[in-house]
Amino acid sequence: MRILFVCLGNICRSPTAEGVMKQLVAQQNLTSEFVIESAGTAGWHVGASPDSRTIEAAERKGIALTSRAQQFHTSDFDSFDLVVAMDRKNRSDLLALANSREQANKVSLLCEYLPDSADRAGGQLDVPDPYYGSTADFDFVVELVAEACQGLLAHCLK
Ligand code: 4NP
Repeated sequence: MRILFVCLGNICRSPTAEGVMKQLVAQQNLTSEFVIESAGTAGWHVGASPDSRTIEAAERKGIALTSRAQQFHTSDFDSFDLVVAMDRKNRSDLLALANSREQANKVSLLCEYLPDSADRAGGQLDVPDPYYGSTADFDFVVELVAEACQGLLAHCLK
């Protein structure tokens, strides 16, 4: 299973999802079964490490982040089975880049995998962008992403 997490800048939310998912998969001894990466719809931060506030929030939950930012390209649709967007804007940007129904069908929202996503539907299913936010906003991203990645892993193992 090849999973690509996508946000806007690829320095906050999607690197968090990549690190969380790699840790969950490793805990199940399934590392060899998965390819897990992340990318941004924008190319502003290509080559950069995750934002220091993101690294610190992940560290507080025992998660190490090692990714370098890369920009999403349409060819990624062919390299991955699941393209998991952090918010609805990321999803619509990805769908605009899809060249076929098969590519578009690979796109989902991370929060769709929350165990109670139906109850949260009124609350949009976005992982909120923490970039201009507080330490608490960065901590919330790690918690929400961790919960949703548990659901994503369960979905993958079905
Ligand atoms: P991300 O957050 O999409 O979760 O990586 C952002 C990172 C950078 C910017 C915006 C959002 N930026 O404007 O540079």
